Amino acid sequence: MKNVTVIDHPLIQHKLTIMRDKNTPSALFRQLLREISQLMGYELMRDLPLDVTDIETPLEHMQAPTLKGHDPCIVSILRAGNGFVDGLLDLVPTASVGFIGLYRDPETLRPVEYYMKLPEHMGERRVMVVDPMLATGHSAVAAVEKIIAQGAKDVRFLCLVAAPEGIEEFQKHHPDVHIYVASIDRQLNEKAYIVPGLGDAGDRIFGTK
Ligand code: URA
Repeated sequence: MKNVTVIDHPLIQHKLTIMRDKNTPSALFRQLLREISQLMGYELMRDLPLDVTDIETPLEHMQAPTLKGHDPCIVSILRAGNGFVDGLLDLVPTASVGFIGLYRDPETLRPVEYYMKLPEHMGERRVMVVDPMLATGHSAVAAVEKIIAQGAKDVRFLCLVAAPEGIEEFQKHHPDVHIYVASIDRQLNEKAYIVPGLGDAGDRIFGTK
């Protein structure tokens, strides 16, 4: 599949299996998501552009590699996206963090924005849009639209589990935005949950059910 990377590292797959188990408590679920976001983030940021800077080691002068330009930006789609934020910040503590909140209008079924706060200079950053579940794809499509409208050019979408339907919908609107995912599951069920999936990611992260 073009512009989709399934990050199937054994450690990620093992941790994801524990997360899927309905008996896994919230604290462990959250911790595993943090660990997986570090492993996935490492892969997503593999091609970050580098510059060189002049430094003095204890032995001599050196031109050493350093991240180029503005720091990357993480954009969390509320609320489950927040489960990815701390792990990515562990990797890049200087990253900026934006948030987008969307709800589904009960009549039109379209996503409606209720909150958005993004950092400046979106056009000069690697933007990592995060949401653990790419289900119907509607919120991901809307969030990325808003981010591109703010000038972002280097946008990647990071999720844990995707439905084939969600990937198709996302790529219909954003064919050039690369998706990073740990597992593409079988399908959506009649309630738009991913199966086999892991249930409601937000509830499982925050212990609300
Ligand atoms: N959102 C979730 O949290 N889980 C799903 O399976 C689908 C959407």
